[in-house]
Amino acid sequence: MTESHPPEPAHLEAILLVGGQGTRLRPMTLRTPKPLLPTAGVPFLAHQLARARSFGVRRIVFATSYRASMFVEAFGDGEEFGLSLEYMTEEAPLGTGGAIRNAAQALTCGPDAPVLVLNGDILSGHDISAQIAMHVERRAAVTLHLTEVEDPSRFGCVPTDDQGRVTAFLEKTPHPVTNRVNAGCYVFQRSAIDRIPAGRVVSVERETFPGMIASGETVLGYADRSYWLDVGTPAAFVQGSCDLVLGRLHSAALPGPEGEYLALPGARVSPSAKLSGGTVVGARAVVDAEAAVHGSVLDDDCHIESGATVSESVVGAGARIRSGAVVHDAVIGDGAVVGADNELRSGMRVWPGVHLPPCAIRFSSEI
Ligand code: GTP
Repeated sequence: MTESHPPEPAHLEAILLVGGQGTRLRPMTLRTPKPLLPTAGVPFLAHQLARARSFGVRRIVFATSYRASMFVEAFGDGEEFGLSLEYMTEEAPLGTGGAIRNAAQALTCGPDAPVLVLNGDILSGHDISAQIAMHVERRAAVTLHLTEVEDPSRFGCVPTDDQGRVTAFLEKTPHPVTNRVNAGCYVFQRSAIDRIPAGRVVSVERETFPGMIASGETVLGYADRSYWLDVGTPAAFVQGSCDLVLGRLHSAALPGPEGEYLALPGARVSPSAKLSGGTVVGARAVVDAEAAVHGSVLDDDCHIESGATVSESVVGAGARIRSGAVVHDAVIGDGAVVGADNELRSGMRVWPGVHLPPCAIRFSSEI
């Protein structure tokens, strides 16, 4: 019997899907692509790059589209991160499958090599080496990481048989048959990527995976229950940042010690302010006396005035929360001002540069 071994780590290549528009995260993604949003003090992708590197990935092809040049500006040739980075840009977005096919032109591996493919908006603590080992040992065409969620209807629902073979791929179905969902990290045989049609829009979730299953190819699910989060919504984005600061998911890219809060260089926090829940205080941001900030992302140069309360929210770069305002579960755009004694809650979003006068919005749960 011939024995299969995972490939030498140094030879593993990856494709990172980062071309989406991140519509659910607007207004945060109006100027900055989702994978570059400051998360626990660094661009979101820095955490993914550090993690991929820790599993032996040394060369990554970014599949870019929306605001592609910003990725090159942020990560360059990757040397600073101990990686070699390439960029393949779609002029018009080709969907997840089309993007993988397009990016594969920059891979150097042969048809029998496994290639790691990562969605650029996932935080995961799973053992990528174990996923690759399963893929290689079972000679699969593709092996999907699967995770369990409470509400699978928002995700691709992926039932498997008792051998771990994927039996169906049901993208965002109202009637999920299992809580196991596509976790957005795949190991593809290079030859399986080369069979994706070139030059047109293809969705791996709606076309490639269902097609491979229907034609009897070996599509496996690597299921586990490690930390996993899709940061596609504002609430999840904030949670991801806080979890990294609190150390619920360790990241070598965290620019400081894990703890209740992380203050970036030049941040000024009053000794009587209360910071907790994995809050990030951005560079040069100011938190005044008696302000309370819990489980939030405060971007660079923002200002939380005395007595304001901010929780589970994003406060954009240069934004200002005036005295006595309450901001809970909200997104305040860059440069916006929330006037004194406003009360913003429940998913409210203030667009960049907007100035809310004092007492303009109060929240009532009694309507
Ligand atoms: P929403 O618009 O809020 O749904 O976010 P999104 O645009 O990021 O879409 P989604 O979360 O479904 O995408 C999953 C991953 O695939 C993300 O990392 C996206 O950046 C990436 N992605 C989605 N569509 C494309 C595409 O057409 N091209 C490329 N290169 N990447 C894509």
